[in-house]
Amino acid sequence: MINIPKGCKDVLPQEAPLWQRIERAARETAKIYGFGEIRTPTFEQTELFARGVGDTTDVVTKEMYTFLDKGGRSMTLRPEGTAGVARAFLENGLAGGAMPFKAYYLISAFRYERPQAGRLREFHQFGAELYGSALPAADAEVISFAHAFLARVGIGGVKLKLNSIGCPACRAKYGEALKAYFRPHIDEMCADCRIRLDKNPMRILDCKTEGCRKFTKDAPAITDFLCDECRSHFEAVQDLLRSADIPFELDARIVRGLDYYSRTVFEFTSDALGAQSTVLGGGRYDGLLAQLGAKPTPAVGFAAGIERLLMVLAAQGEESAPAGCDVYLAGMDARSRQQAFLLAQQLRAEGISCETDLMERSLKAQFKYADKLGARFVAVIGEEELAAGEAAVKDMQTSATERISFARLAQYLKGN
Ligand code: HAM
Repeated sequence: MINIPKGCKDVLPQEAPLWQRIERAARETAKIYGFGEIRTPTFEQTELFARGVGDTTDVVTKEMYTFLDKGGRSMTLRPEGTAGVARAFLENGLAGGAMPFKAYYLISAFRYERPQAGRLREFHQFGAELYGSALPAADAEVISFAHAFLARVGIGGVKLKLNSIGCPACRAKYGEALKAYFRPHIDEMCADCRIRLDKNPMRILDCKTEGCRKFTKDAPAITDFLCDECRSHFEAVQDLLRSADIPFELDARIVRGLDYYSRTVFEFTSDALGAQSTVLGGGRYDGLLAQLGAKPTPAVGFAAGIERLLMVLAAQGEESAPAGCDVYLAGMDARSRQQAFLLAQQLRAEGISCETDLMERSLKAQFKYADKLGARFVAVIGEEELAAGEAAVKDMQTSATERISFARLAQYLKGN
């Protein structure tokens, strides 16, 4: 037998309803917040991610699915959605359109990580991006969108953690402070952190190695290095969130694992998850579009991990219910099965979901199967019913049975 690739998951029909519930909540919330759907390719030129996500991040240095296509071009399966949306925005001339530009996406993404609970190699994201506004109100709108989405899915007990990582000027000063702090310990830290120290010291803060984490605990906090503009931007975002009754905690440890962020960063975490507790993360990234060749365009967005949301729902005791069907049409012999087939066609054309016997089961076995399907009614068509042009319709909740003519069946089922 050929197995599924490591770190991937099948979604089986009985699991799909919960996925659909999350996707529905995503689309409904996006509509309310005025975000239109954008779809971009599953793979892009490798350079997009190297330049966009950052070539000192774990995502780019270790986790990308990169391959040469038959034309010898380097391509990469997207490790996230933000860079592709930015590329599409530029390439399609949307920068010249009405601002702000607001788009959402439901995608699969790929990272070659060590699989564990909540960490997959192919995973799914619901994400949203807002371009063109540098105002704190844009950060607050995006955070409010994320908050409303989680509420609509029915995710309970999440915490919003908020931080500001400042602008490049604040970060340059902070970087120097981090270098001074880590340098005396660097020989005891991992090989990656030794490289990060000179290239991008902030990346040390999200090193996953235990040996490094004991040093990151007491590292200087970015919030002590913010310039006046970044500080007042951050305070204005907080004021707006307070006025919208969106609770948050300040957490100077949130630096995010991707390089494009500036100013506001945030994560929603859930105690229901283990080590991979972040269900949704995002922030402002005012430098990315310019880095990809556009005129400077401020931007802010987020992405939620759908598998992690499903884990939270499972921890809340929510399971997928079978999709159910309105009516099961039970036939007893060849002629009544044929009638059931015809009736099924008519009922389906009326939008009524129905199933018939495709296995030549006994009546008892058909009832058992209908029960498994979660059928609301079972309509039995035997020899006698066939002669009368009627079905014996059993309400599976009350067990009451009524004879209903074939002609009235659709109306009867719709009325119940
Ligand atoms: P991210 O924090 O890398 O941000 O991913 C967002 C979410 O995707 C995470 O919080 C997590 O729930 C989920 N996720 C990430 N990696 C995995 C994995 N290997 N397995 C399962 N779930 C995972 C971004 O991707 C940014 N593009 C978000 C963003 C949009 N920032 C601005 N705009």
